Amino acid sequence: MKIAIGSDHVGFDLKIKIIEYLKTLEYEVTDFGTYSKKRTDYPVYGQKVANEIVNRNFERGILICGTGVGISLSANKVKGIRAVVCSEPYSAKLSKEHNDTNILAFGSRVVGLELAKMIVKEWLEAKFEGGRHSNRLKLISDIEEKQN
Ligand code: RB5
Repeated sequence: MKIAIGSDHVGFDLKIKIIEYLKTLEYEVTDFGTYSKKRTDYPVYGQKVANEIVNRNFERGILICGTGVGISLSANKVKGIRAVVCSEPYSAKLSKEHNDTNILAFGSRVVGLELAKMIVKEWLEAKFEGGRHSNRLKLISDIEEKQN
């Protein structure tokens, strides 16, 4: 599975550790920045990773900022993105199984490394269940269509 990852400066250190972890699990991961702890703006990286997902260059995206909120909000502005911000593994897993989330976000000021690893693993191993959930996703994309 190919994973696109991004963060702002606040998420940078945790992102580097998560990239290492993903490699130990043998995922193919590409970092879309930021590449240092120099202050920057989370929407830039939310949008970059989101574009990679909707353009089908990557199957899943992971985003990290201080809380996971700003960067997930930014990604969710891209049509076709379903980004979830999670601070525990149960919601992460269910967000894939029921909501077919294509981006997982979390906050480096909220979760520690070990919890972040657990959240990431549960989400990556979860599969969308389809069935009744597909119709609900269609209702979500209908909302998006009506905005255009
Ligand atoms: C940056 O100070 C901080 O606002 C950002 O990392 C994130 O938490 C925003 O949601």
